[in-house]
Amino acid sequence: MPAITLVGAQWGDEGKGKATDLVGNRVDYVVRYQGGNNAGHTVVIGDQKYALHLLPSGILSPDVVPVIANGVVIDPGVLFEELRGLKERGVNTERLLISANAHLIMPYHRALDKVSERFLGKGRIGTTGRGIGPTYADKISRAGVRVQDMFDPKILRKKLELALNDKNQILTKVYNRRGLDLEQILDEYLGYADMLRPHVADTGLVLNRALDEGKTVYLEGSQGTLLDIDHGTYPFVTSSSPTSGGACAGSGIGPTRITKVVGIIKAYTTRVGSGPFPTELLDESGEWLRQQGHEYGVTTGRNRRCGWFDAPIARYATRVNGITDFFLTKLDVLSGLERIPVCVAYDVDGVRNDEIPMTQTEFHHATPVYEYLDGWNEDISHARSFEELPKNAQSYVRTLEEMAGAPISAIGVGPGRDQTLELRALV
Ligand code: GDP
Ligand code: IMO
Ligand code: MG
Repeated sequence: MPAITLVGAQWGDEGKGKATDLVGNRVDYVVRYQGGNNAGHTVVIGDQKYALHLLPSGILSPDVVPVIANGVVIDPGVLFEELRGLKERGVNTERLLISANAHLIMPYHRALDKVSERFLGKGRIGTTGRGIGPTYADKISRAGVRVQDMFDPKILRKKLELALNDKNQILTKVYNRRGLDLEQILDEYLGYADMLRPHVADTGLVLNRALDEGKTVYLEGSQGTLLDIDHGTYPFVTSSSPTSGGACAGSGIGPTRITKVVGIIKAYTTRVGSGPFPTELLDESGEWLRQQGHEYGVTTGRNRRCGWFDAPIARYATRVNGITDFFLTKLDVLSGLERIPVCVAYDVDGVRNDEIPMTQTEFHHATPVYEYLDGWNEDISHARSFEELPKNAQSYVRTLEEMAGAPISAIGVGPGRDQTLELRALV
């Protein structure tokens, strides 16, 4: 049986949590393969709303084994709190598996994330301040601390000594901050070891064996294609690979085992943090979208920047991820517009570009070329089949599908689990 990857097709917050939850009772494993608690995935089940940051959304499905795989960066304090919060709400968290190879977010990573952003001033990325970038930087420069290090106090001490030699110099001498105390960090992290121990496993092995046995593995991406370290709007990106290629490296599953890539895409566009965003609306239409769509960050509470649907981005996501199916979310938010602008190309310094321009400078200069599609007034949040949608909403979907270059297999008409039109089974 297959491995299926879910990826955000824009700048994150497309509704990945809801999409994962929808298939929760049809899959055996739900795996986070990158990112950390910079993510905020919302799942609404009946009158209960959950905001997940580090845990895979599948943790809310009773028969799923949730997995935090090797590519994720883990802040153990946050994990502890998230597990505690779910347990208090009656969610069984015992099945959670955590890779021994996942890297740990340390207090100095959080400190460096915040202080380096402050020093960047106007040039800041607008990170979530959770220490994500510095943790991945240490991973790549081979100075990281991994989950397995917590089970060997001698190694953990050694690694911390080496790290603090370096980080405390930077914090005190470059940024004029206080240095961090080794014993305090050691105590704190050794304290987490007991909490994590029962969950830690060779997750790559577990997942491949599961696939051998015919189980279904669902790889839940965080962030989105345009926030990818390689394929996103660098440097205004996150420090991992949310695109589908990252799912293999981040989980230990080979690319030949992945049979489907589902792209989650909003019927319009949002972005949190800095960086280029050609269809961004800085007028009252942007505010209208924000209010209609409740576009406020799940992790930081920041206002999300809002704009119209951008077809070159959708096509780009199809290409970079090999998307086989789209899940179009938040179509209900667009009800009430007479005409809906859709960006079909960019004007870059007087030249039409049908695809995302090659360089970041050009992308910063890109202004949208719009086509205008007819809107609808009906409330569509109660629709449960494609045929129940107003004709103009149907043709909006069909037009987007054609522009995006892959079939739209599901449509979201509200945050609830049942507010989904599944045109073809996603799993
Ligand atoms: P994620 O990070 O991709 O999981 O998305 P977020 O949870 O950060 O943001 C998506 C928001 O949209 C959440 O508040 C969801 O409950 C909500 N949502 C998801 N799908 C739909 C939909 O089809 N319609 C509406 N109105 N809201 C949706
Ligand atoms: P989900 O999974 C939206 C953005 C931040 C910032 C940039 C880098 O909920 O879609 P980081 O803290 O990762 O170093 O910040 O990436 N960002 C997100 N934006 N949704 C997310 O996650 C995000 N995770 C990070 O706002 O611009
Ligand atoms: Mg989110």
